[in-house]
Amino acid sequence: MRPPEGCTLCDLHRRRTNIVMPDGNPSYGIVFVGEGPGESEDLEGRPFVGRSGKILDQMMREAGFDRTKVMITNTVKCRPPCNRDPMPEEMAACRPFLESELCGARLVIGLGKSACRDLTGYEGPMSEVVNIPMTISIQGKEIVFIPTYHPAATIYNKNSREALQETMRVVAEWLK
Ligand code: URA
Repeated sequence: MRPPEGCTLCDLHRRRTNIVMPDGNPSYGIVFVGEGPGESEDLEGRPFVGRSGKILDQMMREAGFDRTKVMITNTVKCRPPCNRDPMPEEMAACRPFLESELCGARLVIGLGKSACRDLTGYEGPMSEVVNIPMTISIQGKEIVFIPTYHPAATIYNKNSREALQETMRVVAEWLK
């Protein structure tokens, strides 16, 4: 299920260039969920192709896999202005599309606090939950969910970088 052509379900449609649909391969059942498209993603129409995407790609490569083995998507499919966090009503408008992307998954990775809040309702600090597996219910199906840091949070923070590297090692194990 995807947003309708020219979707106007929330106000993010006003400034978008492209609706950014998932990228990658759903057949391994592993989905990374980011926050929302940034400028590069809005222009190109693909998730995680800008600075954060380069970090994500590099960390995947270091762990021994790449985007062809996972699916990558976002809580909202249109860029929030000035890269602000998506608002609850924007995430709610996109939720049916996100659920349709997740319902066949075995493992979902939440990249950053917006994705974790949207999928688990958790509002506390990421440091309390990072890399602790939990379960989310998507369309009546229980799916393992791992909260972790957003790639952008790892740029100047060694602890976040190491935590995201650990997440990638766990994903590599699931791919075996
Ligand atoms: N940050 C995100 O959360 N998603 C993208 O697609 C790009 C940057």
